[in-house]
Amino acid sequence: MTKAIDFFIEKFRDNLELEPPLSRYNRPRPYRNAMVDFRSCSVFDFEERKELLVREAGLNPFLFRADKIPGCDLLSDSGTTTMTSAQWAAMLLGDEAYGSNEGYFMLKEQAAETFGASWGGKAALGEPENSFIFHQGRAAENALFSVLSRELVVRRHPGGRPLSKDLDPELRERIASRCESMAGSGGGCHYIIPSNSHFDTTEGNIEDKNMIALNLPCREHLENNEEFPFRGNMDLEELENLLGSEGDRVPLVYLTITNNTGGGQPVSMSNIKSVREITSKYEVPFFFDACRFAENAWFIQHKEKGFAEKTIGEIVREMFAYVDGFHISFKKDGLVNIGGAIFLRNGTAFDVNFPSFREELTDFQIMVEGHPTYGGLAGRDLKGIVEGLRTVTKRDYLDARISQVDRFGKRLIENGIPIVRPIGGHAVYIDVDEFFGGAPRDGEFMGISLTALMLVAGHRLCELGTYAFGKYVGGHEIPPDPRVNNVRAAVPRLAYEDQDLFSAAEAMKILYDERDRIPGVDVDYGRDLKMRHFKSRFSFK
Ligand code: F0G
Repeated sequence: MTKAIDFFIEKFRDNLELEPPLSRYNRPRPYRNAMVDFRSCSVFDFEERKELLVREAGLNPFLFRADKIPGCDLLSDSGTTTMTSAQWAAMLLGDEAYGSNEGYFMLKEQAAETFGASWGGKAALGEPENSFIFHQGRAAENALFSVLSRELVVRRHPGGRPLSKDLDPELRERIASRCESMAGSGGGCHYIIPSNSHFDTTEGNIEDKNMIALNLPCREHLENNEEFPFRGNMDLEELENLLGSEGDRVPLVYLTITNNTGGGQPVSMSNIKSVREITSKYEVPFFFDACRFAENAWFIQHKEKGFAEKTIGEIVREMFAYVDGFHISFKKDGLVNIGGAIFLRNGTAFDVNFPSFREELTDFQIMVEGHPTYGGLAGRDLKGIVEGLRTVTKRDYLDARISQVDRFGKRLIENGIPIVRPIGGHAVYIDVDEFFGGAPRDGEFMGISLTALMLVAGHRLCELGTYAFGKYVGGHEIPPDPRVNNVRAAVPRLAYEDQDLFSAAEAMKILYDERDRIPGVDVDYGRDLKMRHFKSRFSFK
């Protein structure tokens, strides 16, 4: 009697295991909508958007009103997550005590569960504090580099000393040019913080303290190469050369997981392990910028040899076993709208090099954010983070998340649009130079033109290229190092259905088909400002 059932189970199973083509779905999403948000504007309100874009926003997507976007708001995947019912339920039980609220202790226990026992749990009496809450990622970065720079002054490290002759000539030149481009740095060469690639706020916070934010992405990073799945990796030879010749200038080495600046590309476990080995050899602390740790772990599970049988949870704990500390914006893989933190492992090179760091960090936190146990958040926010961390490492969630970004990217490819490949975890990056025929049109900021015209279509994207990462110093443009020129379509978590993303892909196709008719822009305001892409105003040439 059950034979027929068994027969069809086989059929259903085979069907689910088929890799679906773009136009077809063979499995449901692992969640359903528990709330929907009707738009107060229509996709046909073209004239209104044109008016707002030109007059109010000066063609800058950051300055365009979100309530007038009928399509996809792909400006950022940060803080834009649709939270789950379980998160909202947890938030209703928020403990708003002024000191030592319940959510803080729950977060410490969840951190131990998610990242590994040494990152949280019930702190033994007398053990140094290792979790520091902030209201978002950049507040954590700001605290880290403010306190670090103070500690470095105390240690009187080698500011001003010329660069070592052992440094690879190309690297030497890049460091010198970064130094020059730091407006107001007062000249001289200072401390260097290398990373696979720093994000804009991390770079901003480092440079604000007169340190050099140096990007050392792997060589494969700059090629669109489907064959190489870990384009987020760091260049190990350059790191070794830097630490070998200038190690005492490097207070910290970073890996950003995933590498947001360079296409949302993941970092392999083997690269993490090698960075650990090199930093241990030179006794330099090693940190993660861990915003998208779970997405990074998914790529390791699916693309790196030897990890297919491990769970995401196991892979995450292995990744974090290699670092001395990390900071994180929970607005990404914390699945929440606000929150950040710094975590430090006890008894590492970082503790030895900076013995007063924790005390100073706590003072900074109290002065700027509030008591360390709430760090600028409401008690309820902490409960939302705990619940978000429980969801984010689930296989069903991550499969749905990353396959959706992949489908969106493939739809753009199908429409002929040149994108950064392989497709990353949280966003699709459109290659602006390729889009306009390969020859860079620097000074015209074609990425800004693209984002402006996409807004007219009803979708918001973000330029992450020669405008966002470049600088205007002494009357000329300094391009990003290494050069990237992308427009990013960041996909908010659990917010959109494929239909929405595919309609954005169609609007992009219209622009691509008529790309010769797209003019560049003039910068009307803000070209020479720091963090200029958040504030500038433009007009079409
Ligand atoms: N580090 C990385 C790698 C990031 O992507 C971000 C934010 C931050 C740090 C700062 O965190 O926003 O909580 O202060 N990235 C967002 C983005 C804004 O759109 O990529 P935050």
